[in-house]
Amino acid sequence: MQSLIEIKNLKHSYIDTDGNEIHALNGVSLDIYKGEFIAVIGANGSGKSTLARHLNALLLPTEGKCVVAGMDTADDKNLWNIRQHVGMVFQNPDNQIVAAIVEEDVAFGPENIGVPPAEIRTRVDNALAAVGMTEYAKHAPHLLSGGQKQRVAIAGVLALEPDCIVLDEPTAMLDPRGRIEIVNTVKKLNREKNITVVYITHYMEEAMQADRIIAMEHGVIKMHGRPEEIFTKVKELHALGLETPLAAQAAFDLRQKGIKLADGIISNEELTEELCR
Ligand SMILES: Nc1ncnc2c1ncn2[C@@H]1O[C@H](COP(=O)(O)OP(=O)(O)OP(=O)(O)O)[C@@H](O)[C@H]1O
Ligand SMILES: [Mg+2]
Repeated sequence: MQSLIEIKNLKHSYIDTDGNEIHALNGVSLDIYKGEFIAVIGANGSGKSTLARHLNALLLPTEGKCVVAGMDTADDKNLWNIRQHVGMVFQNPDNQIVAAIVEEDVAFGPENIGVPPAEIRTRVDNALAAVGMTEYAKHAPHLLSGGQKQRVAIAGVLALEPDCIVLDEPTAMLDPRGRIEIVNTVKKLNREKNITVVYITHYMEEAMQADRIIAMEHGVIKMHGRPEEIFTKVKELHALGLETPLAAQAAFDLRQKGIKLADGIISNEELTEELCR
């Protein structure tokens, strides 16, 4: 597999208001491959957002390297190009929506980078279709649900035609229905449009949808693997202050009580099937 993003021994320090150095990233090495869906989990303050902000050069390394599509983020002549390869979606959709009409909002990004008007129309239509918001093109964003607003924000990023989308807790402010809308939308973009996805979340049920998961603690990667590898390591997850998906926890508890179950159960469907057998 070909790497889209190469991170080598990445360190990031902030200086807080008292002048103290905060080591937010303490040597992260990670390759993110083209077309993969990677989830990043970790307790509050473990460095997830700091890592995310390096992926499109919103932050630059204190030490180490972050290379996006062959371009070093530390080289400022790459900035413009890197930002077109990697789009970011944040927690609060209200902060990301700038226009009074959905389609104008989605057009905002391409207009800013000088895409010709005729092509903007196509990009906006495609982006809205990809997130299932075509019928809301003429609506006012502030009247939409949280999940719909967040889908418009994703469409705005898509209209820039990035290879990779980084989402930093995109569902944190949404209700359960909105959360499902977003995860499904992101999964579809990954599967059908081969967009590389880096998805930061506190919801393990969302992380379970990824091809690969990394779990962070104190600015380093503590666990790394496929969802069924990560979520069956219940004790290690708890040590990182993380929950396990309900089914994975139930399977773990049943095994502790001496009930024999197949390996790698993490979803409700897998657990139901195994218990019925
Ligand atoms: N601008 C900043 N100035 C100083 N310290 C910061 C700044 N931003 C983050 N930090 C510190 O860096 C560390 C990592 O923060 P970061 O926001 O990357 O964590 P996170 O995993 O995204 O946490 P959360 O789950 O709460 O979003 C924390 O100790 C945090 O307090
Ligand atoms: Mg964060």
